[in-house]
Amino acid sequence: MKKIAIIYYSFSGNTKSVADMIKEIFEIREYEITMVRLMASNEPTSFLKQALRALFKKKAIITEDVVCDLSEFDMVALGTPVWAFNMVPAMRTYLDKCQNLMGKNVLLFATYGSGVGKDKCINEMADIVKSMGALKIMPVLMQQNEVKNYRLVMDKVKTALSNG
Ligand SMILES: Cc1cc2nc3c(=O)[nH]c(=O)nc-3n(C[C@H](O)[C@H](O)[C@H](O)COP(=O)(O)O)c2cc1C
Repeated sequence: MKKIAIIYYSFSGNTKSVADMIKEIFEIREYEITMVRLMASNEPTSFLKQALRALFKKKAIITEDVVCDLSEFDMVALGTPVWAFNMVPAMRTYLDKCQNLMGKNVLLFATYGSGVGKDKCINEMADIVKSMGALKIMPVLMQQNEVKNYRLVMDKVKTALSNG
């Protein structure tokens, strides 16, 4: 049985919705699924503080028991909201900690509001996973209003997967 790890951060739920739909796609494909919602114990709740921390590429303290060794997975999906043109600090920490992405297929997903900085965010994630030896990198970006559109999200994810 093939295995996928879906690792994501979501503050207000949009990225979680996309992660849930990705899970559904891989359930249908009969993958064994490990799903982790990253929790940052030191993330402020104020918009401004969150934005500044993301902008200055700060890291977050994430829970210890998150799966970091990705060697057993055939596919890895990594998701983040766009914060101040960047991935969130918790995802930055995770990318720093995770290991054995060499030769893996990686689906990157991000949700965003205005769209400012969305490409910068996903491109930086792509560069990082590429530098770790990822084989295929499949990016998918979802505007926060699109997230409620089940069919659209499913189609966008499936397209990203088939282009990979
Ligand atoms: C602190 C903060 C900064 C944000 N910065 C951006 C940004 O630079 N560009 C953008 O398009 N959306 C930005 N957004 C909007 C979020 O990316 C968007 O609402 C996203 O879907 C939230 O995901 P979540 O519900 O999983 O937390 C920002 C939101 C927050 C809270």
